[in-house]
Amino acid sequence: MKSSAIAHSNIALIKYWGRSQEHDPYLNIPSHDSVSMTKYGLIPNTHLETHTTIDFSDVHKEDTAFLEGEVLTGRKMERILKVVNPLRKYANIDRKFKVMSRNDFPTQAGLASSASGFAALAIAAVNAFGISFSKEEISTCARLGSGSATRSIHGGFVYWHKGNSHETSYAEQICGPEEFDMNVVIALVHEGKKEVTSDVGHESAWTSPFNDVRTKKSQGQAIEIKNAILNDDFSKVGRIAEENCRYMHVVMMTSDPPLFYWHPDTLRLIKSIQRLRKESLECYSTIDAGPNVHCLCRPEDTYELQKMLEKMKFVRKTIPAKPANDSCVTKEHLF
Ligand code: DP6
Repeated sequence: MKSSAIAHSNIALIKYWGRSQEHDPYLNIPSHDSVSMTKYGLIPNTHLETHTTIDFSDVHKEDTAFLEGEVLTGRKMERILKVVNPLRKYANIDRKFKVMSRNDFPTQAGLASSASGFAALAIAAVNAFGISFSKEEISTCARLGSGSATRSIHGGFVYWHKGNSHETSYAEQICGPEEFDMNVVIALVHEGKKEVTSDVGHESAWTSPFNDVRTKKSQGQAIEIKNAILNDDFSKVGRIAEENCRYMHVVMMTSDPPLFYWHPDTLRLIKSIQRLRKESLECYSTIDAGPNVHCLCRPEDTYELQKMLEKMKFVRKTIPAKPANDSCVTKEHLF
C-alpha cells in the first residue's frame, strides 16, 4: 500500500485568514470563501512542488513522517495524523505508515510549503487506500492538515467554498491553467522562518475590530474575482487581489497580540510595484503571512518584470511562476 503524489503550492488572491467561530476549529472551516492560483515555478528544479510518498504496512511498527530527512514530531506530526487518521478509518485498515516528503524549493525561504505538502499527502493517502474520492472530496481531506492545501488539489485558478460542515467546505476549479492569462513573479526580500505560523495566527483574527468588515468584504470579493477571472479581466483581478491583501494585513496588525509579517523592504516593494504600474508595466502585489511579495502580471511581461524586480537592491531573489496543472499521483516513489 504505497503511493506517491506531487502537488503545487498556491498564492491566495482572496485570503483565508481566521477560522469560522461557528465550527470546531479542528476542521479548519473558514469564515468566507477564498480564491487562489496554483503555481508552477519557471526555474529548473524549482517548480514550487512537494513530492510525497506514503506507505501503509505491517512492517512499520509506528507512524513516522520525514520532511527533507527531518523526523516530524509534535504539532507537525499531529497535522499529518489529522489527514491520515480519518482515511485510515474510512478504509478500515489498521496499518501504520511511513511518509517521506520533499520540496523542490527551500522550506526556509518563507514560501508556503504546507499547502503543497498537505495536498500531496491527501492525494497519496487516498490513492494508497484505493479510495475513489473526487478531487473535491480529496480537498476536504487536505483541509484538515492546512486550510490553503484545500485549494492546492486543483491546478489553475481555484475557489474554496467556506461551507458549513466538513463535507461542504471544499475547493473547486474556476478554470484551468491555460484559461486565464496571469503569471506571478515572487520577490523574496527576507528569508527565514516566520515568528508566528499561520496556524497560530488564525486563532487571533477575530480579535481585530476590523475582522467582521474584512470577512464580509472578502466574501463579496471572492465572487467578484471569480467573475473577473472568467471574464479574462487581468486589471480587475489585480486590483481586487491587492485590496484584499491589505484587508488581511490590517487585521493581522490590529489583532491581539498584533502580528507584523511585513519587513521594511516589503513596504518598499509594495510602493515600487505601484510605481512600476504607473510608469512601465501593469502589475499588482499580494502578500501571504510573511514578508515576501507575489507580483501578479500578464504572462508576456513575466521576464521583463523579473528583470526590473532584480534591479531593486532589497530584492534578494525572484522566482517566476505560471498557473500549474492539477496536483496528481506519480509512480516515482521516494523510498
Ligand atoms: C495567509 O492555515 O493554510 O496564506 O498554517 O501554513 O497551513 P499553514 O497556513 P494556512 O493559512 C494560509 C493563510 C494565508 C492565506 C491563504 O493562503 O489563503
